[in-house]
Amino acid sequence: MTELVIVGAGPQALSLCCLLLQKRPRWRRRLRIIDPSGRWLSCWQRQMERFEIPCLRSPSPHHPHPNPNALRSYAQERRRSRELEGPYGLPRTGLFSEFCQSVVEEFQVAHQVQAVSLEGIHLEAGRSGSLHLTLSDGSLIQARRLVIATGAGEPVLPNWVQRIVRPYPKEALQHSRMIDLAACRGLQGQHVLIVGGGLTSAHLALGAIQRGARVSLMCRRELRSKLFDTDPGWLGPKYLKTFRSEPCWRRRRQQVLAARDGGSITPWLTMTLQREHRQGSLQTYENCQVRQALWSAGQWRILCEEGRNLLADRIWLATGHKLGVSLQPLLRQLHKQQQIELVDDWPVLSDDLRWPGTNVHLMGGLAALRLGPAARNLFGGREAARLISRAAVKA
Ligand SMILES: Cc1cc2nc3c(=O)[nH]c(=O)nc-3n(C[C@H](O)[C@H](O)[C@H](O)COP(=O)(O)OP(=O)(O)OC[C@H]3O[C@@H](n4cnc5c(N)ncnc54)[C@H](O)[C@@H]3O)c2cc1C
Ligand SMILES: NC(=O)c1ccc[n+]([C@@H]2O[C@H](COP(=O)([O-])OP(=O)(O)OC[C@H]3O[C@@H](n4cnc5c(N)ncnc54)[C@H](OP(=O)(O)O)[C@@H]3O)[C@@H](O)[C@H]2O)c1
Repeated sequence: MTELVIVGAGPQALSLCCLLLQKRPRWRRRLRIIDPSGRWLSCWQRQMERFEIPCLRSPSPHHPHPNPNALRSYAQERRRSRELEGPYGLPRTGLFSEFCQSVVEEFQVAHQVQAVSLEGIHLEAGRSGSLHLTLSDGSLIQARRLVIATGAGEPVLPNWVQRIVRPYPKEALQHSRMIDLAACRGLQGQHVLIVGGGLTSAHLALGAIQRGARVSLMCRRELRSKLFDTDPGWLGPKYLKTFRSEPCWRRRRQQVLAARDGGSITPWLTMTLQREHRQGSLQTYENCQVRQALWSAGQWRILCEEGRNLLADRIWLATGHKLGVSLQPLLRQLHKQQQIELVDDWPVLSDDLRWPGTNVHLMGGLAALRLGPAARNLFGGREAARLISRAAVKA
């Protein structure tokens, strides 16, 4: 029987793996990490490349190494401290990637990721709490403990998208999840409508402009400029202490949503967008929403709620992702076998992020009722790793 199976090999899983191995080096043989890519951080790397992101949005202590100062020391030793930007030391993407690679080497986990995905979870009846797992290659494994760290969730598709009458070319309407700027052909002279007001919308807008497109950025509220997704008080005890003493789960959920308050764009990118606006390559439509989109004669005819009409060659949805137990097949299976309290589809986990009554732990955004609004970020990965490793080692 495997002691611990970690599903997903993103930065959150790497945080846990390193912390566990630091506490218990002998656990190496008892650990099994699975991810269809067979590599660490493949989704992370891809998302940074696809949107051509030059710099992270999180401060330098947020990374997968157990020592929060490790990234700063790595940069100093290589005389690359200038790649940690501003008062919070936001890491340049290249520096962060190379650092993560060095973490993988330091903890000797490069070959530990098995290239399969988890497809089925079966909870064994009785007190043992062990788990039977079905993998995509058809094999079955038995595990004492499982950690699900599978990341983002499902793309948000606005209601008007569901009402579009097909057919239209695939590249004419895409969610950001499917967009790779480097692979976009023929943007020169095209009009691209980008829907959304988060940081992804800003990166896509700049990427399209650089390729000669005329861009319209449409968001349903006003564009908001913020350094981080949340106030920095949520990345430490300032707000988290009160949040974690709140006994009402529904109020906690409201606090998480209010703290993130939808999408926002960093001050530096806001300034860059304003410059593009002044130069005429970007048009912004705030407090504006699409009511209907019709593909006709090789173009989108778009009618907005406010009565405005637009023509566009492509629509890119930078509308983010949503998380919920009912949206994830693995969690749906788990909930069928072991029902737990849900608050609007978010699970109420125990304080070690365990699905109550089982030996399954969750990392990522679905741990937000315990970890707060940064649960899905690198910060959340560190917090989750701390709680889960403590439980695993104690057991
Ligand atoms: C463009 C972009 C930029 C971001 N920048 C930042 C930032 O600067 N700072 C920050 O803190 N946060 C940032 N975020 C949030 C960010 O997504 C997270 O910090 C980070 O990727 C979360 O890591 P993760 O390990 O939870 O998920 P992921 O990196 O998505 O990894 C999840 C892994 O699970 C695997 N998986 C999925 N299903 C299965 C299965 N059934 N079986 C096996 N494996 C499976 C996937 O293949 C994937 O490799 C950004 C998000 C986006 C979209
Ligand atoms: N490191 C980086 O440089 C970088 C780059 C990209 C992203 N990120 C991070 O990745 C995470 C996700 O960012 P994201 O921009 O993809 O998503 P996001 O922050 O969730 O923003 C999604 C945007 O889509 C809008 N939206 C959602 N549903 C909509 C609908 N039905 N109709 C119209 N608009 C709708 C939202 O509007 P409301 O605001 O009104 O809710 C919001 O502005 C964030 O944590 C972000 O910081 C980091």
